[in-house]
Amino acid sequence: MPSASKLPIALAAGDGIGPEIMEAVLAVFRAAGVLDHLEFVEAPMGERTFASGNTSGISDEAMEVVERTGLLFKGPMGTPVGGGGKSINVTLRKTFSAFANLRHFQSLPGVETVFSKAGVPVDFYVVRENIEDTYGGIEHRLTNDVVECKRLISAPGCDQVHRFAFETAARLGIDRVTCSHKANIMKMTDGLFLERFRHVAADHPSIEIHDVIIDALCMNLVLRPDAYQMIVLPNLQGDIVSDLAAGLVGGLGFAPSANIGDSVAIFEAVHGTAPDIAGKGVANPTSLLLSGLIMLRHIGLAKQAAIINNALLATLEDGIHTGDVKGDKPPVETMAFAEAIASNLGRMPTSCPPRVVGTHDTVEHTSPPRPTSYRLRRTFETTVSHLCGADLYVGTTLPPFELAAKLQAICEGGPFKLTLLSNRGTQVWPSGSVYTEVVDYCRARFELKDPAMLGRLGQMPAVKLLEKVAEKFEVADFQPLKTFDGKPGFSLAQGQ
Ligand code: NAI
Repeated sequence: MPSASKLPIALAAGDGIGPEIMEAVLAVFRAAGVLDHLEFVEAPMGERTFASGNTSGISDEAMEVVERTGLLFKGPMGTPVGGGGKSINVTLRKTFSAFANLRHFQSLPGVETVFSKAGVPVDFYVVRENIEDTYGGIEHRLTNDVVECKRLISAPGCDQVHRFAFETAARLGIDRVTCSHKANIMKMTDGLFLERFRHVAADHPSIEIHDVIIDALCMNLVLRPDAYQMIVLPNLQGDIVSDLAAGLVGGLGFAPSANIGDSVAIFEAVHGTAPDIAGKGVANPTSLLLSGLIMLRHIGLAKQAAIINNALLATLEDGIHTGDVKGDKPPVETMAFAEAIASNLGRMPTSCPPRVVGTHDTVEHTSPPRPTSYRLRRTFETTVSHLCGADLYVGTTLPPFELAAKLQAICEGGPFKLTLLSNRGTQVWPSGSVYTEVVDYCRARFELKDPAMLGRLGQMPAVKLLEKVAEKFEVADFQPLKTFDGKPGFSLAQGQ
């Protein structure tokens, strides 16, 4: 059991190289005196937990420890490929509402990259939304040939991550935050992400804001990474850009990561379990160490974090490195690298600015009390919505004009008319091009015949229409169409 005077933190060493790099990081922490303030409590999760038949990979004991401490320091964990096993890393972030993923990408001395050779310093943060987007993992097979993944973006989810980004920027002295998105194509989902970015930015007038389309961002990052200070992105795009950014500073071995929520914060290396080198004692512990330093700053041990950070920089400056890094000197093993850092505690780097060693080394962290029920987050509480139609998705191989004739006959006499057929999002009726190839899944859009009926129908007429269509066709999906404060809550088809 943890002692009363020390801050308890859940610890999961992880799989593959996890135990080796965790041992190395704890050795540095021990040498720096950090363990005088902290008590790590084992939280069993990962491959061994999966193997015991627990399909989440996280033991009940681990859940209890993480909930109680509100802090988890973890090594990488493997996800069973195929089958139903979900990624533990994603499960943890989602279960504990660790909504913001913060990663710092910075050139390090002794780590040769294209940019270090060109004298271009890289130093920026990525804030990735951690819970929503396609990471909901809501996927279905709709017809023989078509599968879907639902991409959910919520206004409260956007607000949380944007607020975190601006608050973190203010704390770190960053004066420019960039939102990256694909709102030119996904006007509703990425559009909301961008709109809420601008909304939250209004509370931080001293921070300059920019936005950039994700594809342009990728090119800009490769050409001019020094143009960015902090980038905030939706989940999937953030995932991809994070790895791209890791490549700019020398690879995954150098990229730390923190997953921050209101109740629980998870600190972990960006890379995976590296099965190809696991057990050989050659892995680079830097990513996990840097993640541990974010954790130390998070709980108030900023002084110790700076001392260790400077010792790491001095070690790299000395040319000491693990096998994944190119260097003039021969590589050292994981523990030897950790011992070199420990022996450099108190030293300052000379080729790059040292971390300012403050005076503060008191733990300032109290876990928020356990929520008593699920917390509902809401942003738009007074919006008025009205049903104005329905999109019905049918599994069919009928040509569009034939399908349209049958659907028109079905909705005759009701409040809705057929206004559109689209296939894979492209309009194929009432107009379209026979060059558009189609698959066995077609969307039929029904809208009110009489716009004056808006707000006067409940949802039952749309459900009745669904019933009638289902009598004749295989219904693959159903989506009521609504207006919100008079504006359509749905996108147009391509070509409409
Ligand atoms: P990986 O990151 O484990 O390995 C990719 C390459 O980078 C390998 O060649 C590996 O040797 C090297 N590498 C990674 N970390 C290193 C380090 N610290 N020092 C030296 N070399 C290092 O990615 P991979 O192979 O795609 O995934 C392996 C497993 O890890 C999978 O089961 C995956 O699901 C899991 N994973 C877990 C993550 C986490 O726990 N946060 C993140 C990413 C993957």
